[in-house]
Amino acid sequence: MLSLHQPLCLCLVNRLRNRYAMNPCCYYPCQNRGICVRYGLDRYECDCTRTGFYGENCTIPEFWTRVYRLLKPSPNIVHYILTHFDWLWDIINRTFLRDWLMHKVLTVRANLIPSPPTYNSKYDYLNWEAYSNITYYTRILPPVPQDCPLPMGTKGKIKLPDPKLLAEKFLLRQNFRPDPQGTNLMFAFFAQHFTHQFFKTHNHIGLGFTKGLAHGVDAGHVYGDTLDRQLDLRLHKDGKLKYQVVNGEMYPPTVLDAPVKMSYPPSVPPEQQLAIGQEVFGLLPGLSMYATLWLREHNRVCDILKQEHPTWGDEQLFQTTRLIIIGTDFLKSCGFYFAWEPLVDIIYDCYKNLYQNGQLQ
Ligand code: HEM
Repeated sequence: MLSLHQPLCLCLVNRLRNRYAMNPCCYYPCQNRGICVRYGLDRYECDCTRTGFYGENCTIPEFWTRVYRLLKPSPNIVHYILTHFDWLWDIINRTFLRDWLMHKVLTVRANLIPSPPTYNSKYDYLNWEAYSNITYYTRILPPVPQDCPLPMGTKGKIKLPDPKLLAEKFLLRQNFRPDPQGTNLMFAFFAQHFTHQFFKTHNHIGLGFTKGLAHGVDAGHVYGDTLDRQLDLRLHKDGKLKYQVVNGEMYPPTVLDAPVKMSYPPSVPPEQQLAIGQEVFGLLPGLSMYATLWLREHNRVCDILKQEHPTWGDEQLFQTTRLIIIGTDFLKSCGFYFAWEPLVDIIYDCYKNLYQNGQLQ
């Protein structure tokens, strides 16, 4: 009998140990961005690869780390140099040194971010999914292990603060403060419209994943993030995008004409759903307004190109116009708002009329 019970006991003991052994990585023993890897139940090892440190907890600096630390000026000295010596900065700005220095600054800063990506919010260990997931959601440090006793590992509060409380404490304003730079809601909508071409969390798969897998600033929010979507949105004539004319003016087509998936509240019938590259751009008037602006701009450029290049077919006209839209318009996005503000006002008025006439809801 005893021998029959033995495996059962062992199994129970193991399970209990498993349950109650504290994951040592919850103590964050690895320093200087070393990665904690759990061994067995209560052991760990620090992976100090490319940290510039070694030792059990990645605390001993390597030779070049020592040299770097010795030579690296303190933040105060850097600040002093950057804000004084006008003559030096004049020389730098007027010569090849400016390009050289900017290149160095940008590459040094960019190298701080691991590429290809290492971790993301789903994975706290190295794996192919995180590596091959070309998103903007990479993490430099893995998330807190899930089996830690406290949300931040072993230190901090038992519960994380209520996000609503944080938002109220840090963001909520009691009094209206006009933007000192004189921007308005249209600027916020432009930023929202622009960023939603590459920030597209794939909520169904998980927070660490994106639907925007293309180049980034690719105008996917105008043309769709897949070829299928793009083809549905295109008129297939003269390079243009599909459109509808309301009161003599050009607007995005409805989903009846361009059958792409859009996120609208269930109460909005298909004949009132606008078909746009980005599926959520029907949800806010400002986003639909900018979608209309880019649709009109695309089709306007197509007309000009067709005049200039009467031999070009639909495909070449479309592709070249897309490049122009991405390059000329989006990369100049900061200048855009101020240069095109009058046009934005006109389109805003059109939308207001459509709402008032009940043609849009
Ligand atoms: C009327 C104003 C706005 C509303 C109602 C709104 C609403 C939302 C909502 C509901 C989400 C999804 C949050 C989630 O999935 O947990 C979101 C995400 C986001 N919002 Fe806004 N937002 C507004 C303005 C802005 C503005 C002005 C920007 C400017 C940059 C912006 C940028 C973003 C970005 C980048 C995301 C993440 C998108 C993603 O990863 O898929 N939003 N917003």
